[in-house]
Amino acid sequence: MKRREWRSMVMALRVKAGMWLARPWQRLHSRRALGTTAAPAPTTPQPFEAIPQYSRNKWLKMLQILREQGQENLHLEMNQAFQELGPIFRYNIGRTQIVSVMLPEDAEKLLQVESTHPHRMHLEPWVAHREHRGLRRGVFLLNGPEWRFNRLRLNPNVLSLEAVQKFVPMVDTVARDFVQNMKKRVFQNTRGSLTMDIQQGLFNYTIEASNFALFGERLGLLGHDLSPGSLKFIHALHSMFKTTTQLLFLPKSLTRWTSNRVWKEHFEAWDTISEYANRCIWKVHQELRIGNPQTYSGIVAELISQGALPLDAIKANSMELTAGSVDTTAIPLVMTLFELARNPDVQQALRQESLAAEASIAANPQRLKSELPLLQAALKETLRLYPVGSFLERILSSDLVLQNYHVPAGVLKSFHVETLRQEDVQMVYRFVLMPSSSPLLTFRLAS
Ligand code: HEM
Repeated sequence: MKRREWRSMVMALRVKAGMWLARPWQRLHSRRALGTTAAPAPTTPQPFEAIPQYSRNKWLKMLQILREQGQENLHLEMNQAFQELGPIFRYNIGRTQIVSVMLPEDAEKLLQVESTHPHRMHLEPWVAHREHRGLRRGVFLLNGPEWRFNRLRLNPNVLSLEAVQKFVPMVDTVARDFVQNMKKRVFQNTRGSLTMDIQQGLFNYTIEASNFALFGERLGLLGHDLSPGSLKFIHALHSMFKTTTQLLFLPKSLTRWTSNRVWKEHFEAWDTISEYANRCIWKVHQELRIGNPQTYSGIVAELISQGALPLDAIKANSMELTAGSVDTTAIPLVMTLFELARNPDVQQALRQESLAAEASIAANPQRLKSELPLLQAALKETLRLYPVGSFLERILSSDLVLQNYHVPAGVLKSFHVETLRQEDVQMVYRFVLMPSSSPLLTFRLAS
């Protein structure tokens, strides 16, 4: 089902540019969740208590989370709840009342009432580490005026078009090294192909690229001989994410007793990431003090030289940008390559598109988006089918009516990628949505 969907959605773009997103959204605009067995939403405003309640035995759920060390099927449970209860339901976590919605019209309403200070839930395990170690929080963990202050100082150096144009060549250098390294490995094999689990390689690529763009320093993760320091850092990132999902869904008061070992691992992982960020920032700081380079050398150097934020705030935000950039980029790349491998005609069309656009993009890199609409559609379609970030949460600052219920405030151009696997990949929730096991892909140099 998924396979057909991905291919037809991407190929539709070739037929009718711009139309590819229109149909599914129109379908979603109906008042009921897809395939729902629930009654339609009421037409007259109802009190909060009338919102369908998702009930599950709290103690059984806690035991299940402890036994399974997380909630890998969270996305499937949510989907089932939407099917049974409709496009809005509520449940409690401790004393917190949570309302879940899925329709774009409801997300739109939530964004419309959002103030300049959006309020999100705490990411407890991450916040606990910062508080215990007396460290600052960055935008990922902040709310209110402090979030806004940090965010406004970061935007010009991280998100603005001008900033992106400055650090994209650094990401491009790492991408070219990655492809060169793959080519070398394909040539070393007698059959002229390389069959591999690409996931770990792509994680290393995203860490390398993000580290270069942030700190202007290469880690050397794309080669074979990783330094002990780099290995320790990668291990810490993996361990931090793994333990986050083990601790995320249970109250701290409970996991203090049941998961002491997990808390210890979580804190040690963050300590390693924090020491690493400290060292990088001090190196940039020292080099900037010795001489003021005229060339761009990364996001952190810009933040320090402009005095945009205090050093410890720059450090907090760099840790979050590092953590935020790894899985979110690597997993969609794995899934795009998998879909291209089992849809060879789309892969062929994409290759033709990039070959045709090569000269034009080389002359003017700004044309990348407009000259590669099929590539863009393939990436967007992957993000729709495999939404790496599954949830967005807000604590409401004013009352709102949703579904008539009152809610109170409170690319590898030069490679062919192939796979023997035709069945869908099972996705699991491990802080981000990722394949339960990475699909085996074969890379061959295109003739
Ligand atoms: C497909 C890729 C990505 C997805 C789906 C994704 C998803 C999200 C979501 C849903 C949020 C919460 C936004 C909110 O509360 O309004 C978020 C925030 C954030 N993400 Fe990403 N992300 C992606 C890539 C990245 C990358 C590449 C980085 C770092 C370079 C990053 C760093 C952050 C940071 C720092 C925040 C906190 C922003 C703030 O609160 O001001 N993300 N992301």
